[in-house]
Amino acid sequence: MKVIITDNYQESCRIAAEMIRDVIAEKPNAKLGLATGGTPVPIYKNLIKMNQQGEVDFASVHTVNLDEYIGLEGSHPQSYRYFMDTNLFDHININKANTYVAKGTGNPADNAAELEQKVFENGVPDLQLLGIGNNGHIAFNEAGNHLVAVSHIETLTESTIEANARFFDKKEDVPTTSITMGMRGILAAKMPLLVATGASKAEAIRGLLTNDEITTQNPSTFLKLHPQATVIIDKELAQLAGVQ
Ligand code: PGA
Repeated sequence: MKVIITDNYQESCRIAAEMIRDVIAEKPNAKLGLATGGTPVPIYKNLIKMNQQGEVDFASVHTVNLDEYIGLEGSHPQSYRYFMDTNLFDHININKANTYVAKGTGNPADNAAELEQKVFENGVPDLQLLGIGNNGHIAFNEAGNHLVAVSHIETLTESTIEANARFFDKKEDVPTTSITMGMRGILAAKMPLLVATGASKAEAIRGLLTNDEITTQNPSTFLKLHPQATVIIDKELAQLAGVQ
């Protein structure tokens, strides 16, 4: 696992954005796997700025997102489609027809199957951006006794619902189920790139970076199977997690 320890989260986000820029420079029609949540927002801000300054061109880029809440239309302000539009796509020269976020409404099983197809359609993602949950989840693959290989319907854990309640008016508004990419799709990417910050991630990062074990109780540990997996954390989190 390649681990980059930065001075601060701001630097982590700049480096992640530069890595994405470099993938596109090398392959203008790159396919990016993208993530939502609090962590990637400054990464997307960096990419918007780079795009405005002519440093990166999204005209031929395709994207597929990790997950979506079940029950929210793409126009709902807390849906991940809305998140992607407002935090990135509306501000860069991407063709939105080339962006895919799973549907939150309609038949969930069909929507999961469509996501699986999109992950592999015309080649796998060149880079897959990832956050990490407090419980070690990646996308919505929750910690538990088993993981699921393919895109599927996932019931969110209490810990995830609590963590995501900050984006909603009240906890009861957080959807309890989601469509998520499975472990196969994430590990199929040419380079999974996980960015984390904050004390709430320390235990999960400890499990990911301080030993060679793989456990479904910390889904991020499956990234240890991927030779190109890269993790960016700041020195504050590295210290809390006991990463040298
Ligand atoms: P966060 O979420 O970036 O909002 O902390 C990460 C995740 O749950 O994967």
